[in-house]
Amino acid sequence: MWTRHLFLKLSENRPLRSWMETSPKAKLLTRRFIAGETLEDELRACARLQEQGISAALDHLGENVTTLDEARQSAEAYEAALDEIAARKLHATVSIKITQFGADLSQEACVENVLRLVAKAKATNSRVEIDMESTRYTDQTLDIAERAAAEGPVRCVIQAYLHRSAEDVDRANQLGMPVRLCKGAYDEPETVAYPYKADVDSNYVQLMKKLMDEGTFPAIATHDPKMHAATLAYAKQRGIGPDRFEFQMLYGIRRDLQKKLLDQGYRLRLYVPYGTAWYPYFMRRLAERPANVFFVARSFFH
Ligand code: FDA
Repeated sequence: MWTRHLFLKLSENRPLRSWMETSPKAKLLTRRFIAGETLEDELRACARLQEQGISAALDHLGENVTTLDEARQSAEAYEAALDEIAARKLHATVSIKITQFGADLSQEACVENVLRLVAKAKATNSRVEIDMESTRYTDQTLDIAERAAAEGPVRCVIQAYLHRSAEDVDRANQLGMPVRLCKGAYDEPETVAYPYKADVDSNYVQLMKKLMDEGTFPAIATHDPKMHAATLAYAKQRGIGPDRFEFQMLYGIRRDLQKKLLDQGYRLRLYVPYGTAWYPYFMRRLAERPANVFFVARSFFH
């Protein structure tokens, strides 16, 4: 537990971040979790996944930009990604963070950036998935997601570790807005989030059921075999076919389970990050599973 807090605290450390992100050796650390630095690296990784029957959600790494210019550039990078997805006929969506689109600076500029991207996703037959960040941004993210979902194809993340999430799932279901259900990756106080894994897991199962019964093409995003089993059992019990939901997992994590789901005929989408601003994402992956530190150290020294 303390290691989770430590890595999440370190994920916000700016000096360590700039040292890590500019170190030439650091690329060796990130290979397992990140497709590469450029859009071309990313598209190649997505094409390889597609050959195996796996769809992708492209994540151009970046969060908490500090100028509106950077926010606009992030939006433009994603627009370019959508053009390439369409040109190469990839089964891929894009996954964004509102703080990468300017949410800390101007809500209106952020909404404008998101709406432009959603219009492009609609025109290119793709989708914009909106990640959920810390609780500082939950209301803002849901507000933007609702506005964007009224204009085009959007899926919003809801985190099972938050006490509030049942209400958020109900609202999304009423609006017909697709949801990606995940457990939650940030360091949150007990006042807003369940501190124990058993409670998060139990809430995950409750929310999964709501989404399977009343949601629109939910994405069950987890590497937890118990959550997979609960979802498959519930789908079977309710007669919900594999064409009505998808599983999502992170690039490079639990490839054994990815294969198992595919072999059983379920839809799978991987969240595939790329870019140079990889540090916070990478630290959150270490926080989720401290054993990754040994894996990373081993590949570094080989
Ligand atoms: P849990 O943490 O209980 O792990 C279950 C098992 O999965 C572990 O025993 C281990 O085998 C494996 N595992 C989990 N994490 C691993 C790791 N880093 N390395 C290696 N093995 C690992 N969060 C968020 O707050 N906002 C968001 O927008 C998103 N978006 C998102 C998209 C997708 C597609 C996924 C899969 C996840 C997210 N997350 C997220 C992250 C999510 O909230 C959560 O932190 C991680 O998925 C880990 O939780 P699990 O559900 O995998 O279960």
